[in-house]
Amino acid sequence: MAMIAYKCPQYKVTLVDINPSRIAQWNSDVLPIYEPGLDEIVKKTRDRNLFFSIEIEKGIKEADIIFVSVNTPTKTFGAGAGMAADLQYWEKTARQIQSHAESNCIIVEKSTLPVKTALAMERILTSNANAIHFDILSNPEFLAEGTAIENLENPDRVLIGSRETPSGLRARNDLVEIYANWVPRKRIITSNIWSSELSKLVANAFLAQRISSINSISALCEKTEANITEVSTAVAMDSRIGDKFLNASVGFGGSCFKKDILNLVYLCRYYGLQEVADYWEGVVKINDYQKERFVLNMLTAMFNTLAGKKICLFGFAFKADTGDTRESPAIFISRQLIEEKAELVISDPKALDNAKKDLEGLNGKISYIVDPYEASYGCDAIAVMTEWETYRQLDYKKIFKSMTKLAFIFDGRNILDHDKLFEIGFNVFPIGKPPQTHF
Ligand code: UGA
Repeated sequence: MAMIAYKCPQYKVTLVDINPSRIAQWNSDVLPIYEPGLDEIVKKTRDRNLFFSIEIEKGIKEADIIFVSVNTPTKTFGAGAGMAADLQYWEKTARQIQSHAESNCIIVEKSTLPVKTALAMERILTSNANAIHFDILSNPEFLAEGTAIENLENPDRVLIGSRETPSGLRARNDLVEIYANWVPRKRIITSNIWSSELSKLVANAFLAQRISSINSISALCEKTEANITEVSTAVAMDSRIGDKFLNASVGFGGSCFKKDILNLVYLCRYYGLQEVADYWEGVVKINDYQKERFVLNMLTAMFNTLAGKKICLFGFAFKADTGDTRESPAIFISRQLIEEKAELVISDPKALDNAKKDLEGLNGKISYIVDPYEASYGCDAIAVMTEWETYRQLDYKKIFKSMTKLAFIFDGRNILDHDKLFEIGFNVFPIGKPPQTHF
């Protein structure tokens, strides 16, 4: 919304939310999320044509177009628990819109939703007797965290789905015109509403599938003398495959991949497509396996006991350049290490507040230190969880000197110079490559 306000000064964009402290943060100098470049855009547009407010009814009454971006977490109860999307916030919002809208309105689905959610939305909105007409559009968001502003400014594509009725097509066109203020027309694609909803789930499933594919091969590399970086480079040079999203890692995280795939799996099961469901569920299973494998490798390397050992995590965010820790592999790894009675020191440039919340109530010794030198001081091992650039640049000689020997490094992102670390004296355990040890 900030990008629309920035690119289109002729429109007034108002963001409403039920959470007053959240809105207060958006109106303050310290925004509630860290995203490179976002502060600048908000500062340029706020109180010009971008407004943050808790006046939801007023916002609905005044709007010609309403973008609904409420969260749709995985259901934790009832039918489809652990898989289907929890649509209660969506439904509440639809009912609020229905009660307060005073004129015809376009409703845009921005949240990622199961296929056919627009149908439910339409039914709720058309269930009242008054003459207001609503058109529902699906306009999934494809930005990735950490590069959100870049992705919004220069998107690969903008996808807009609608009903193919005269009024649906008119509404779709209105939204095309908004994006056309800065996105080249050929990158704005339109489709029927169900294709649009499904495309979002499928895009995320394909991206996550690539990571699980390379991660599954990393396990095989560790058993043979193959090297995952060499394998992925060779594979990626086939122009049909390409080189993106082939970095082996401790596992993918983030609020979207797991949730969206499980959603897809649930949909397939619902429609009786058991084999298709199992196929996609495999992507999530390999991701869980990769995280479990990482801890087991640590345990085996450190002589089958972690009890009382001090382990420093470099990074806690689910990826670099964000403070977001949702579904971060670091959460699972921390829990397992505490279970093994290790002592944890967690370091991250932006995610420590979230890390504290994620690990709240965990019974064990955990400290949180931003500075990586201070964090790794006196530790037995470092485990790289997040590919922050800053971890590549550290003085590892200095770090080695301050650590308990034998000092171990488990590089869960394959971002460090492993030969150099080995020369310094570390015992080095990358992902999908032979370890280098001094014993
Ligand atoms: C993902 C998609 O990339 C976006 O296109 C989509 O819009 C978004 O979900 C969403 O549905 O909202 P995001 O979760 O922000 O974006 O971040 P990604 O860059 O996709 O990274 C996801 C996870 O995969 C991270 O933990 C990352 O470290 C990991 N990853 C990524 C790997 O382990 N290896 C890779 O090669 C690439």
